[in-house]
This record gives sequence, structure tokens and C-alpha cells, in this order.
Amino acid sequence: MTFKQTLWAAALLLILSGACFGQTLREYADRAGVLVGAAAEPRLLEEPEYASTLAREFNMLTAENALKWGAIRPTRERFNFEPGDRLVAFARAHKMKVRGHCLAWSEYNPRWLEKGSFTPEQMSELLREHITKVMRHYRGKVFAWDVVNEIFLADGSVESSVWYDQPGIGLKGKGTAYVEQALRWARAADPDAQLFYNDYDTEGINPKSDAVYAMVKDFRSRGVPIDGVGIQAHIVDLEAKDLATIEQNLARLAALGVQIHITELDVGLPSGAGQPDAAALKRQAEIYRRIADACLRQPKCTAFQTWGFTDKYTWIPGYTKGAKGAPLPFDAAYKKKPAYDALLEAFRRRR
Ligand code: G3I
Repeated sequence: MTFKQTLWAAALLLILSGACFGQTLREYADRAGVLVGAAAEPRLLEEPEYASTLAREFNMLTAENALKWGAIRPTRERFNFEPGDRLVAFARAHKMKVRGHCLAWSEYNPRWLEKGSFTPEQMSELLREHITKVMRHYRGKVFAWDVVNEIFLADGSVESSVWYDQPGIGLKGKGTAYVEQALRWARAADPDAQLFYNDYDTEGINPKSDAVYAMVKDFRSRGVPIDGVGIQAHIVDLEAKDLATIEQNLARLAALGVQIHITELDVGLPSGAGQPDAAALKRQAEIYRRIADACLRQPKCTAFQTWGFTDKYTWIPGYTKGAKGAPLPFDAAYKKKPAYDALLEAFRRRR
């Protein structure tokens, strides 16, 4: 084969693979009318490859931490909107949507709140004020909020927490009543925002996802403002048995009339010496594809988000004390992994 023939063959391969047109996740997601996003940290936007990859591949972003109480409310009096505003500005500059995360959670709360010895009445006013001020600040800039995050234990019971009963907001012992109250304050604060409940280990049908389903069914039956459910999809076990019933779970939520967002997908791999082996990367890609297909086949699944996008910045190694890592579609050098290719194929097929 002459050099010229080789060039033509390579060009043909590129065209057939779509690579030469630079097809990206974002392009396919836009064609499919689906949001594809990633959690981001404002401080990392200074890193050119971080910023360029985020803007090129995603049409949505969320704040990994910048909009949580611990970051946005350093003292009772002061709201620090600057980091969140930087994310919003970046998103607007790149025509991306912004998902808000999160207005009430048992974790990442500032010390003054956790140790403030406030009465339930004071906690109620603090939460109402927080939801109202934050949502009004981001009104028209954040299209959806995880209003309440992770209230259920694995058995479906409501976890003890600063917002439930330690000391709570005056609805201790009344199960999901405090979630209802937070959602009502959120609707009043920004009637145009989509209001979500977000949780982990709720991909398939299990006691925890049953509790989410029961809460949403009750809320919808009583006109409590809830527009969607966030399914985090932190997959820490490559067996991923729970995924066997993900379609049924998505379908029963959709039947309640709410949207579903996959909100925090990552698939941790065992941290061996050096790079993960080909088999682990292949299995990881299969799980990414599985979840993407389940979402993209469900019309009410309208957003698909990973928790970060490069292995360079992920919570997994810290959380697993080094046992797991490399959970995301791009490696630490921003090179596409088999998981990226699996997502691209799932979104390409969907368009
Ligand atoms: O910014 C401070 C830094 O100034 C300080 O030096 C450093 C050492 O203490 O801490 C830094 O804050 C850390 C923050 O991440 C930013 O890196 C917090 O300690 C650390 O607790 C926080 O962890 C985050 C965790 O939520 C708790 O909020 C993770 O990054 C974040 O990925 C994780 O995300 C959660 C979702 O919000 C909800 N679903 C589960 C998911 C994983 O836990």
C-alpha cells in the first residue's frame, strides 16, 4: 500500500469512527435532547485541560461542594456565593445548564450549625432562610436543585440527622415531613426551579429505593412540590447486582410523573499497582453503558451526570482509603477510557 493509500485508509477509518468530526458526548446528548453533566470544582476551572474537557463534553454541570452549607454558609451571617458564582459564570459562558446540590444534608454542614445548640424552632428558621436566600440568589441560573439529600438508611428508615431529630426542625418522629417542608420552602423561593430528592444505593429495587418511591408517591398524591428523583449511582462493587432491576425502578418512578436524573455516577476500580487492568476497565465500561442505556431508554430520565469526569480529581480514593480509584470516563491525563467510549456509543445510539 502506498503512503498516499495509507493516508486515505486512515482518513476513512477516522470518518467511519466519527472521531474526525470530533463527536463528543455533548454533541450526541444535544441531538438526543438529554442533559449530560459532571460535578465540578470552581478552583479547578483555572486548569486549562479541566475547563476545556468540561465545556467540550458536557452541556450541564453541578457543584461538587461549592453550594453545600459547609462551603456557602461559613458563618450564620455570611453567605459565600463566590465559588458557586464562578461555576455559574463558566456554565453560562459555555451554554451549559447548572444543577444545584444540595440545600439540606446531614453532612458537610458548618461547625456553627452542627455545634450551635439551636432549638428546633431556630433550626426551622435557619433552614427556611437558607433555602430561600440560596435559591433566590441562583434563580434563573440553576434549573434544578437537590433540595434534600440522602435521608434514608439501607432498610428504608429515616436517618437520625441535624435536620430530622438532632434536633431537627420541629418534625422529629414524623418521618419525611421535614423533606416535605423543605420542598415547600424551595417551591416558594423559586417556583421555576425543578425540585429533586437525591440519594445513593437506590439504582435498583431494594428497601431503600422502596422508601424513596413511597415518599414520592405520597408527596405526589398530596400535591407536595417534587419534580424529580436523583439516583446517584456511585457503583463501588463491580458485581453491581442492583442494576438488574434498574429499569423497573426508573419505570415506577416515572409512573408517578416525576423526572429521574442520574446524578453522581462513578465506578470505583480496585487500586492495584499502576493502571487498572484491561478487564477491570472493560467491566467499568459495561456498567457505564448499562446505566446510560437504562436512563436513555426511559423518557423521564432527563439528565445523566458523573461525579467529576477525570480520575485526576475524584473523591473515591480518599473515601476508600486508597482501596479504589479510577472511577471516571477520563483518566488522570484527560485521556478517554473505555467507559467514555461506552457512554459515547450509548448516547450516539439514542439520538
Ligand atoms: O476545601 C477544604 C480544604 O480547604 C481543606 O484543606 C480540606 C481538608 O480538610 O478539606 C476541603 O474540603 C473537603 C471538600 O470535599 C473539598 O475537597 C472536605 O473536607 C471533604 O469532606 C469534602 O468531601 C466531599 C463530600 O461529598 C462531603 O461533602 C467530596 O468532595 C464530594 O465528592 C462528596 O460528594 C457527595 C455528594 O455531595 C452527595 N452524594 C455522595 C457524594 C460522595 O460522598
